[in-house]
Amino acid sequence: MSRALLNKTSVFNELSDSFKDEMAKIMNPIEAPPGHVFTKEGEEITQFMIVESGSLIRTKASVEEGVVITLDEICENGVTGFMHVAARDSGVAYATVTAGNGGAKVWTVGIEFDDLLRSNSDFAIETIQILTQWLRRETKITRATLHGGKRDDPTASYLRKSYKRPEHVDVFKVMCYDTTSWMKENFEPQVKKFNETHEHVVLKVEYTQDRLDINTASYAVGYDAVCLFVNDTASAEVIQTLSMGGVGLIAMRCAGFDRVDLIAAKTFGLSVTRVPAYSPYAVAEHAIALLMCVNRKIHAANTRVKMSNFTLDSGLLGIDVHGKNVGVLGTGKIGQILCRIVSGFGVNLLAYDVFDSDEVKSLGGKYVSKEEIFKTCDIIFLMMPLLPATQHTINYEMLPLLKKGVIIINTSRGGLIETTALLDGIKSGIISGAGIDVYENEGEYFFQDWSARNIGDPTLVALLGNNKVVMTAHQAFFTREAIEKIVSTTIENFGEYSEGLRGNELTNHV
Ligand SMILES: NC(=O)c1ccc[n+]([C@@H]2O[C@H](COP(=O)([O-])OP(=O)(O)OC[C@H]3O[C@@H](n4cnc5c(N)ncnc54)[C@H](O)[C@@H]3O)[C@@H](O)[C@H]2O)c1
Repeated sequence: MSRALLNKTSVFNELSDSFKDEMAKIMNPIEAPPGHVFTKEGEEITQFMIVESGSLIRTKASVEEGVVITLDEICENGVTGFMHVAARDSGVAYATVTAGNGGAKVWTVGIEFDDLLRSNSDFAIETIQILTQWLRRETKITRATLHGGKRDDPTASYLRKSYKRPEHVDVFKVMCYDTTSWMKENFEPQVKKFNETHEHVVLKVEYTQDRLDINTASYAVGYDAVCLFVNDTASAEVIQTLSMGGVGLIAMRCAGFDRVDLIAAKTFGLSVTRVPAYSPYAVAEHAIALLMCVNRKIHAANTRVKMSNFTLDSGLLGIDVHGKNVGVLGTGKIGQILCRIVSGFGVNLLAYDVFDSDEVKSLGGKYVSKEEIFKTCDIIFLMMPLLPATQHTINYEMLPLLKKGVIIINTSRGGLIETTALLDGIKSGIISGAGIDVYENEGEYFFQDWSARNIGDPTLVALLGNNKVVMTAHQAFFTREAIEKIVSTTIENFGEYSEGLRGNELTNHV
């Protein structure tokens, strides 16, 4: 069986029969129960493993005690640890390797591999061939090459500490993901201005329209920083690749950072910055625009008038906002400005937040429970960040609690609403309309032109086809003032990092 398995692994299948025959003789089978530990992070590696069935999980201890980050799963015919044993680097393990949930049948190869290398020159030459291929491919080697890092370092965070950035940084390189033309047009003059006013640093920003994910993370190899937008994903796996490629800073050019695995960033030694406030006015004002559009049916009325239908029949009737109960969930920077604007309508203002705001109270706002807002409000604004505690704030269970005819406005994050529940609520008449600038699965679609393509997401199609939903594609922030602030703050964040500030030392750290 061991010989047949070698034919199936991508590492060994193209090697000579004699190589595989020799290898097969030194392979030892293990039927490992779930959780069986093969290799422990930080301990010396003495064997490599080839998986016949089941899987092995590679994990890494995080900076948070008791929390582990799953790096990857090595499935049938996969190989792990070979690099350490074949390169005879007597290194310590970068990750812990355990048998997966269903256990695993694994073949291990230990110190006998070393004996074979010494005694059989053909075997050694073929091993060098494999290592050469890996040298090209493996980001681990890329990291060592880029930074002169030690390959046997136990953890990436240790590696980052051991890498000394030159005191005089000549070029600070940034890979900017998910770039649209408006973003590039606004960045370029400010990058130029930065370079004219900084003697010791040259800021060089490269742009890609692609989003950051595991397939595009390697674009950033050799860069100091990545600059990300709302729909780029910096998962643990992506952050691991960035770290190996030498990236030290994730600079969000937005306020939200719900797609960044902060524990992984800390574990791999990356700093994360954001733009905490660009124009809270832009977002609050857009929320009001959505409300007035939903309530007074501006979208439908405009289409009808353009078609010379000047009647008021069928569906244009709205309500006075004046005198209504308006609930604001989340009274941070944007929520407070919204409260100020909405109180100008003369409403009964109710608020919910984990912290009370004096500003909201001074406007006559009353802090009540979430349930009270659901039960009594005619209009509800969602203004809190997306967190485990706020995910699907609007969901199937709370639908029956809502006041009949409520209008829901969400400019914060799509994940605050369980979209199918919102659609059901509209269908049943509990919700009379919704204004949304964000959608929980917007990542694949927003900021791109899908007008000539088929949208494969039935929930998004249902939203687009529902005339009680007014939808914009994450444009609430999109004002001249906000863009200027986003770009200038992001460039200040690059500047601080290039001067040597790290983690919490950075003004806009997350
Ligand atoms: N659509 C856009 O273009 C756009 C632009 C900027 C920001 N946003 C979104 O708007 C959100 C709010 O922005 P902000 O600048 O006001 O943020 P902020 O941090 O100033 O305010 C968030 C408020 O939510 C509260 N909060 C946190 N957890 C809560 C919980 N479990 N229940 C109730 N309240 C809770 C906080 O206490 C805080 O008062 C951001 O998180 C971001 O996702 C969207």
